[in-house]
Amino acid sequence: MKTKLKALCIALCAPLLIFCTGFFLSSFSEEPKAEIKFVVPKGWPKPVYDFSKNPVTPEGFALGKKLFFDPLLSKDSSTSCSTCHLQFTNYTHVDHALSHGINGLKGTRNTLSIMNLAWSKTFMWDGGVNNLEVQPLAPITSPVEMDNTLENIVLKLKRSTSYQKKFQKAFGDNTEITGQRVLKALAQFMVSIQTFNSKYDHMMRKEKGAEFTEQEKNGLKLFRQHCESCHKEPLFTNNDYEYNGLEPDQKLKDGGRIKITHNKSDSLKFKVPSLRNIEVSYPYMHDGRFRNLEMMLFHYTNGIAKSEFLSSKLSKPITMDEQDKKDLIAFLKTLTDDRFLHDKRFYYSAD
Ligand code: HEC
Ligand code: HEC
Repeated sequence: MKTKLKALCIALCAPLLIFCTGFFLSSFSEEPKAEIKFVVPKGWPKPVYDFSKNPVTPEGFALGKKLFFDPLLSKDSSTSCSTCHLQFTNYTHVDHALSHGINGLKGTRNTLSIMNLAWSKTFMWDGGVNNLEVQPLAPITSPVEMDNTLENIVLKLKRSTSYQKKFQKAFGDNTEITGQRVLKALAQFMVSIQTFNSKYDHMMRKEKGAEFTEQEKNGLKLFRQHCESCHKEPLFTNNDYEYNGLEPDQKLKDGGRIKITHNKSDSLKFKVPSLRNIEVSYPYMHDGRFRNLEMMLFHYTNGIAKSEFLSSKLSKPITMDEQDKKDLIAFLKTLTDDRFLHDKRFYYSAD
């Protein structure tokens, strides 16, 4: 009787035990470790961000994340950085072409994604900002984004004991909350937003089980033939400003880079955006004029405007049949990094 009971017990418990162990192990292998470490993926160039002036620490990252999600940064506490920069759409917004900020006011450009910024020397569609630690001042003070001042943010933050503790943890010496520390913490968070685990990356690192389909292989070939000169691997940008032949929008009248440099030759040039996670970050271009990748590709094959400013890299027309277009888009979708888009370490947390 006793042995029967034992056997029954084992029979019942064993599957449960196996299930639990499996669950335990799988949650271990899929969940990245809590700490954020900056990684230079194999084969990538050296980052240009100067970490020595603002080393990323777990506490600085946590504070930066809290600030990034906090609507307190806007004048009426309605709008946070994350209102426009959403993780699961590659840190941009997808529901409208031009960004919407405080009081529902419309901006003049499509929100840029935030990712792999340690490799960027300049920021914004026109490169108007050349330091990541200064960049947040632009949205903070923009009357159509957050309409606030750094001084006002510091005043508001000083009223919070939770923030006082967080600043002390992040910057050590005392509890002083300063504008510069707000900017440094935000930069620590933003520079940690790294994406390098897409199917494309697994392929390039020759990882076990990673394989392109025939369609994706052809897509990569076409990409290297027609797009690589500007969207350079592995970052998928040459970190430069180019005019890719978009017909200028007569209402927005956005000249791009010329606004900053006042050089005629910079007319209509915009930042070459990285194409990582491009599948999820529609609509496309500085004014969000294309809703999907098919419309975007139609531009490159059929829609290039005739202009003296057109980049010489696009002077030869791009011709592709329908199958090639499908293949190229299939390749672009291999740049989606699901682990990055749903990495829980970057989720909002209330503490
Ligand atoms: C109302 C929407 C909105 C809000 C709020 C907002 N941004 Fe942006 N962000 C944009 C737009 C639009 C651009 C492109 C601006 C341009 O080129 O003129 C941009 C660009 C950027 C860039 C440049 C990326 C690159 O590749 O050059 C960074 C970094 C950034 N934002 C960080 C922030 C931070 C930090 C905050 C909060 C302090 C913030 N943004 C708040 C809409 C927003
Ligand atoms: C001459 C350089 C150049 C070449 C070649 C080029 N692009 Fe671009 N690409 C750009 C620039 C510049 C922008 C941003 C333009 C703007 O918004 O005004 C851009 C934007 C894009 C965007 C939108 C990204 C976003 O986040 O909104 C996609 C997608 C894209 N290109 C794909 C391609 C593909 C696919 C090819 C090859 C068929 C290609 N590009 C060839 C320079 C180039």
